[in-house]
Amino acid sequence: MTELERAVREISEEMRQRPDRGEVASYIPELARVDPQAFGLVVIDADGNVAAGGDSDVAFSIQSISKVFTLTLALGTVGDRLWRRVGREPSGSPFNSIVQLEREQGVPRNPFINAGAIAVTDVILSGHQPREALGEILRFMQFVADDSSIAIDEAVAASEQRTGFRNSALANYMKSFGVIENPVAYTLGVYFHHCAIAMTCRQLAKAGRFLAHSGRNPATGHLVVQPERARRINAIMLTCGHYDGSGEFAYRVGLPGKSGVGGGILAVAPGKASIAVWSPGLDAAGNSHLGRIALEALTRRMGWSIF
Ligand code: DON
Repeated sequence: MTELERAVREISEEMRQRPDRGEVASYIPELARVDPQAFGLVVIDADGNVAAGGDSDVAFSIQSISKVFTLTLALGTVGDRLWRRVGREPSGSPFNSIVQLEREQGVPRNPFINAGAIAVTDVILSGHQPREALGEILRFMQFVADDSSIAIDEAVAASEQRTGFRNSALANYMKSFGVIENPVAYTLGVYFHHCAIAMTCRQLAKAGRFLAHSGRNPATGHLVVQPERARRINAIMLTCGHYDGSGEFAYRVGLPGKSGVGGGILAVAPGKASIAVWSPGLDAAGNSHLGRIALEALTRRMGWSIF
């Protein structure tokens, strides 16, 4: 057994036994049905070796982790013109906050808070029917993960569609400033559905490989994005990927990462590994509680912090 395999196994066992698991998200009713005891961890190193622990093959709702991939797609479509519609500064606010939008003319602080991700989805939607835009996002996910079985959990999408009043407020508010161009209902429909993509830790770690290896997926040889773009996406993950918990994540884990309220985190150790962890209980900022603790233990043990 390699040192990496041993680390992943031991950390997964330790996390399974911990009593402090955080709170499972319930504002999207369907997410509240998830088992809070679940825990999964998958690491894929530069040579393609896979180390897996716990529930590594159980699909969960990736939620905001999808925003990394919609950002990548939107940059591929409109390039740096994207930055006219969304900023790239940390917000220091909760993921669903509205306060900065009024002061900043409806332009969201970054592509990872909900307002910013809705604006990015609107860019992908432009010129397409919602179904086409969603198909493009799903196909991109399947392409980067090299797995055509990845699908949307329709029950989760419908659950958020019924209860997403806050996102509806954010989208309408941005629309009043002209930041959203398509009908709000279309943009939100695509947004709710890409957040409802279900993936396993194994699939997610595969999907993150291009970010860990300068834009190229080493398994398929595909250059997904130029090295400079991969670097920049990683920079935004580091500074904004955990909302107002981004500073704490950088301090403790020291890697670019993106969380989702389904309890997943995708973390990138540049040149070294792509890492996916899942534990559904969240901390006060809406990030996976044990996911962060597991990543902290892993990066310390492997010496992977970028700092
Ligand atoms: O828009 C929402 O509230 C969810 N679909 C996604 C939020 C999320 O994952 C925040 N991340 N920790």
